Amino acid sequence: VKKAAQKAAGDAPRVSSLYVLGAGIMGGGIAWTAARAGMEVRVKDISEAALQKAMEEARRLAAREVARGRLSEEKAQACLARIRTQTDDNGADQADLVIEAVVEKLEVKRQVLAALEPLLRADAVIATNTSSLRVGDIAAALADPGRLVGMHFFNPVPVMPLLEVVRVKATRPEALALAVRCGLDLKKTPVVVSDCPGFLVNRILTAYINAFTRLVAEGVDFRAIDRAMEAWGWPMGPALLEDVVGMDTGAHVIEVISAGYPERMAADYPDVIAAMARAGRLGQKSGAGFYAWS
Ligand code: CAA
Ligand code: NAD
Repeated sequence: VKKAAQKAAGDAPRVSSLYVLGAGIMGGGIAWTAARAGMEVRVKDISEAALQKAMEEARRLAAREVARGRLSEEKAQACLARIRTQTDDNGADQADLVIEAVVEKLEVKRQVLAALEPLLRADAVIATNTSSLRVGDIAAALADPGRLVGMHFFNPVPVMPLLEVVRVKATRPEALALAVRCGLDLKKTPVVVSDCPGFLVNRILTAYINAFTRLVAEGVDFRAIDRAMEAWGWPMGPALLEDVVGMDTGAHVIEVISAGYPERMAADYPDVIAAMARAGRLGQKSGAGFYAWS
C-alpha cells in the first residue's frame, strides 16, 4: 500500500503551509499532526471556544510526547508554536493546501470553500475531510474544481494510520499527488479511492453501526454489545465508537450512506443515533452520549 502511495505522490512538492478550516475533533487533530510533522499550520473556526479547546488538546498531546520521550520540551514547544488559530482569513494566500473539516453539511462546506477560494493562490490545493458526502458535490461550488480532492482522516487523527484520498473526475493529477504526498509526510497510509458516498471504510462501518442500532432498538443493552466486541478483540465497541465520533456526525454519515445505497443499506435503519443527536447527546464532545463523559 505504501509503495502505491509513493508512486501516486510522484514528485509532488511537500506541503509546508497548511490551512485548516474547522477546529473541532478532526480539524484540531489534523492541525496538531501537521505541526508535529513540521508544517506551519493556520486553523480557522467561527468559534473562539473551539479554537481554544483545540489548542488545549494540542498542548495535552505535546506534553504526552515529551512524557513518552518522543519529543524534547523545546521541540514540543516549537510544534505548538507552528499552530496559529484565527477567526479571520489571514494567511490563506500563503497556503499550499487547505483541509476543510467543518460540520458534515453539504451547504456549509460549499459555502465556506466558495468564500475561501478567491483568497487562495492559483496553485493551492483544497481537500475536504468529509466522511460521507460526494466530493464531486462539493467541487461544484468551486471556480476551479480541478484543485479539490478528498482527504478523509480517521478519528483520533494523531493515531489512526489510514487516510482515504478521494479522486473526483475533475481532480487534477498534481492535486491528487500533493494530497498523497502530504498524507505520507503526516506518517499516514494514504489509499486512493473513488468518489462515492462513504468511500471505502464508512460504507463498511455504517453497515456495522446499523446492525448495532438494530440490536439496541430490539432492547439489547449497548454496554453488553461493547463488552462483547472488545472481548472479541476490537479496540472499542460500537457505542463507545459513536461517542468518540460524535452523534451529529454519525447521524449525517448514516443518512448520506443510506440514501446513497437504498437497495443495500436498509432504508429503514433504526433512528437511534439521529434521535440522540436531536436530543443533544452528541457523545464525548458534549459530555454525554451512550456514556456519561463529564
Ligand atoms: N488523540 C491522540 N492520541 C490518542 C487519543 C486521542 N484522542 N486517544 C488515544 N491516543 C493515543 C494514546 O496517547 C496512546 O499513545 P501512546 O501510548 O503512544 O502514548 C495510544 O493512542 C493508545 O491509547 P490507549 O492505550 O489509551 O488506548 P487504546 O489502546 O484503546 O487505543 C485508540 C486508543 C487507538 C483510539 C483505540 O481505542 C482505537 O483504535 N479505537 C477505534 C478508533 C476508530 O475506529 N476510529 C475510527 C472512527 S470512524 C472515523 O473516523 C471515520 C468517520 O468518518 C466517522
Ligand atoms: P466537530 O463538530 O467536532 O467540529 C466542527 C467544527 O467546525 C466546529 O468547531 C465548528 O465551530 C466549525 N465550523 C462550523 N462552521 C464553520 C465555518 N463556517 N467556518 C469555520 N469553522 C466552522 O466536527 P468533526 O467531528 O471535527 O467533523 C468535521 C468533519 O470531519 C466533518 O465533515 C466530519 O464528517 C468529518 N469526519 C469526522 C470524523 C469523526 O470521527 N468525528 C471522522 C472523519 C471525518
